[in-house]
Amino acid sequence: MKAKKLIEVAMPIKEISTESVRDKYIHEGHISTLHIWWARRPLALSRAVVFASLVDDPLDPNCPAVFRQAVNTLLSGPSYRPYKDIPYTAAYDPVEDNARNRLLCFIGQFSNVVQAQMLRGENVSSKDLLSPSSLIKWENKNNESIIRLAQKLIWISHNSNTSNSLDEICDNFDRSIREIQQIEEKLYSIPDRHRGGPDVDSLTKSLNIAIKSFLDSMPSVFDPFAGGGAIPLEAARLGCRSFGNDINPVAHIIEKASAEFPQKFGKPIILSQDAFDELYSEGGIQLLESHNVRFDNTHYHIPNRLAFDVDFYCRQLLKVTERQIGNYYQPNAKGEKPVVYYWARTVECGNPSCRARIPMLKQFYLSNKKGKQIYLKPVIKGNEINFSLGYGKCDINGWNNRGNITCPCCGNVTDIEEVKRQSNNGGLKDRLLALVFDRGRGKEYEIATGNPYYSRKASEEDIPMDNMQRNSGGGDTFSWGITKWHQLFSDRQMDVLLAFNANINKIIPFQGEYADVLRTYLGIFFDRVCSYSSSFGRWIPQNEQLTSLFGRQAIAMNSDYPEINIFSKSTSGAYNQLDWIIRYLYSESSSPFYAFFNNASSGEKSQFGENEITCVVTDPPYYNAIAYADISDYFYLWLKRSIGDIYPLNFSTPQTPKAQECTALKHHHNNSEEEAKKHFEKKLTEIFDAIRYQTSDIVSIMFAHQSTEAWTTLCNSILDARMNITGSWAIDSERDTRMIANAGAALESSVTVACRPSKRQGYGDFKEVKKAISEKVEHEVESLYSLGFRGADLMTACFGQAVSEFGKYKVVEKADGSEVTVPELLDLARNLAFNSLLKGVQGDDFTRFYIGWLQMNGMGETDFDDATKFTRVGMQVDVSEIFAKNILIREGKKQHLATAKEHLGDNRVIGTRPEDSLIDQVHRCMLAYDKGDRTELLQLLHRIGAEDIASPFWRLLATLQEILPDDSSDLKLVRGLLGNSDNLRQESRDIEQHKPEQMTLDFGAE
Ligand SMILES: C[S@@+](CC[C@H](N)C(=O)[O-])C[C@H]1O[C@@H](n2cnc3c(N)ncnc32)[C@H](O)[C@@H]1O
Repeated sequence: MKAKKLIEVAMPIKEISTESVRDKYIHEGHISTLHIWWARRPLALSRAVVFASLVDDPLDPNCPAVFRQAVNTLLSGPSYRPYKDIPYTAAYDPVEDNARNRLLCFIGQFSNVVQAQMLRGENVSSKDLLSPSSLIKWENKNNESIIRLAQKLIWISHNSNTSNSLDEICDNFDRSIREIQQIEEKLYSIPDRHRGGPDVDSLTKSLNIAIKSFLDSMPSVFDPFAGGGAIPLEAARLGCRSFGNDINPVAHIIEKASAEFPQKFGKPIILSQDAFDELYSEGGIQLLESHNVRFDNTHYHIPNRLAFDVDFYCRQLLKVTERQIGNYYQPNAKGEKPVVYYWARTVECGNPSCRARIPMLKQFYLSNKKGKQIYLKPVIKGNEINFSLGYGKCDINGWNNRGNITCPCCGNVTDIEEVKRQSNNGGLKDRLLALVFDRGRGKEYEIATGNPYYSRKASEEDIPMDNMQRNSGGGDTFSWGITKWHQLFSDRQMDVLLAFNANINKIIPFQGEYADVLRTYLGIFFDRVCSYSSSFGRWIPQNEQLTSLFGRQAIAMNSDYPEINIFSKSTSGAYNQLDWIIRYLYSESSSPFYAFFNNASSGEKSQFGENEITCVVTDPPYYNAIAYADISDYFYLWLKRSIGDIYPLNFSTPQTPKAQECTALKHHHNNSEEEAKKHFEKKLTEIFDAIRYQTSDIVSIMFAHQSTEAWTTLCNSILDARMNITGSWAIDSERDTRMIANAGAALESSVTVACRPSKRQGYGDFKEVKKAISEKVEHEVESLYSLGFRGADLMTACFGQAVSEFGKYKVVEKADGSEVTVPELLDLARNLAFNSLLKGVQGDDFTRFYIGWLQMNGMGETDFDDATKFTRVGMQVDVSEIFAKNILIREGKKQHLATAKEHLGDNRVIGTRPEDSLIDQVHRCMLAYDKGDRTELLQLLHRIGAEDIASPFWRLLATLQEILPDDSSDLKLVRGLLGNSDNLRQESRDIEQHKPEQMTLDFGAE
């Protein structure tokens, strides 16, 4: 029998979560800065899951001795010694020093300093969180010794079933790596290697053979939903033969530019003077310094040929384009050109006697930084609206309230329906309001004057007239009449982009594979610029920057926008965009191992032979969360024009392929949710079925959707593809790092499930299965709760546990002979999770509801439906009563848990009587404490019999103290009461004997 993989038994989830959260805030050289792709997985998570899916659990009895020995030898130093005491739990929990725990510490371990600080409950800077020797730490992605060690451990685990000793296996690894390095060294030291020649050819061939031979001894990893390429990038970094597949041609281009080209072409090159002059002339000389090029009197030593060339040719592209159309941005009288033009859409006032043209502004700030507040100050004359610049705090209310526009001239409100009607008739005219200059002293603002209007130069036939698809994910432009891609650009933006795009295939003066690679980056460069050059981006006064139109995963209507002067060297201009690309190339070029990408719908069994792939690590679409194909058309239509000829098969269709996309988007399925769901499940099953056939070991699937429907579909697809879940891990990749030491708020997480082909045991008795699931879920809830998981994250994390038990059987039957379905199973898991949380909570059902809800959802907003689900769990309370009692406060489709004040409101009786619900009494006392009315408080305590510290009253307060969020106003009151409990209890006991004096309460240091 084979040993289990590490991912099936243990994962350092707190450490992975911590570094994954950090991943969102890292920009310099990060994969996300090359080109946007939606829902990229954090690199730390991807690296951890790939590694843990490939190495054996060293404590598994079937683990080959050689691997266990390897862990004990290679990770024997103090760097990977397990924690003396787990730093993020309150209890003292030492960790055994064994091979499994060392392997977990190798993946990620909190640094020494953090361990000490966490134990004291202090916050720490995010870059110091993990130890310097953690594999998943951002800074280690190019750390040769750590990455090499990870590769070696994978190599040993993969080759441990031979009769070779550990030394022999390690020697083979070292030799193989050395060979690659030696050939690279020779090849990259040949002067003018770009010109080819017998030496270059033969060394290139040897290098390819050496890489192939290394990969032959490493496992292969496949991601059938490769998207922006994070998982294949990490699998390649770990020295695996890495494959990625995505249906989307835009994703395919991004993947190649992220995890294939930099590793293949981002290598040093030595150029003779004449070769350099021939290639670059003056333009190249200007780049020497920024690329750290060394000139040794005869030769230029360029550290990264690809980065240098991309920089050089993108600049050429900009220069050529600026020469042609730079005059589209006109200078002012001093010869200065703005870096940004700030526009607002205007609507005509619905009042017939006014008809003012109102800029649809939600607020007026141009800059709202500390110490620098500048705003547009309205100057109203009759029905004319003009502006001057105002300085300091702006107290004027915006004129745009959720699309309803208040006229500053007559006060009339033009409602959103009328505004949309005008928009659909082309009646929302753009008006230039302000100009932004960068004169080296920070941004400076001027009110736009004169005639700033611009008339389009491009001819109709050049303009991309393609239709947009309706967005999902909250974007709606259709009801505003914006249904074609070209409508997302103003006339000047369109002219500039057309000229820029048309030059892409004229810039590279040579041909061949490398020229195509460079042209691909010109396309990527264009996309970066283009995503900041639509009239759907936003100006952020807080940092005086603009965002791209993909601030979220959909395209939403906006009412004002910044137009960038793309040739400016300032804020989000093209030079700035180029910098990000170059930084990425530098940060990902050092490895010789690249990934292999394919662009097709996954699920094609013949793509790989039976068991050809060692392991699958993947991240399928989250049901209906993101309409990848629909929104990526924004880039597709430009890429098709500029580089479509290099990738004729990928860009053969007019728009991105939609029919085979594995998503549950009802607008692709006759607006039927049911059809969309069926399509998603069918596709997913097909793809899982293929990968079960192709994969010899583990299939690790990340999934971030929390709805039961999405999980039902995922679980059904896993089970239908005859796999079962053997491990399940919740990773929080959203939480703010400041809260690491102080878990408490609602999180957003993804769950990674490890699956294997299942051997089903026939019929299972639901009673037995339920018992087994209950034990697993209870354990899971306890451990995840202590790690800071809450709400839907906590529940979904239990789904994997439930399915793994359920999936052992062909069919699980209830007593009446009917089959248990996956939705029923997930409901059961959720109920068990609720009940586990409520275990030990005393009191009436309303009190238990309050505590259960607080634990699950905190004080934040949740969807209305959640309340109904919750009350079905082990409690006899009715949702209507919950709302009638003001325990939950409903606002539209949302609700939140009531604070003490919200709960009792103006009522003066509830909570004063012994028969009242405990939560009523506690809230009543909190309010009395808040008022500082000690007499009332003591009388209350006396009346409700709260003199004993062990009484349910004080226990409830202690529970609240533990679970109320740090920023909750109630927490202060709870702490105050608990801090005064001895005196209060004593005095309330004496209340009959002597009347207490009115005193001020001590609120403590809080
Ligand atoms: C959640 S994303 C993957 C994100 C990726 N892990 C990353 O880090 O960027 C899911 C991907 O699945 C792709 N996809 C959807 N349907 C597909 C299909 N039938 N075959 C292959 N890929 C598909 C989408 O285009 C999208 O890129």
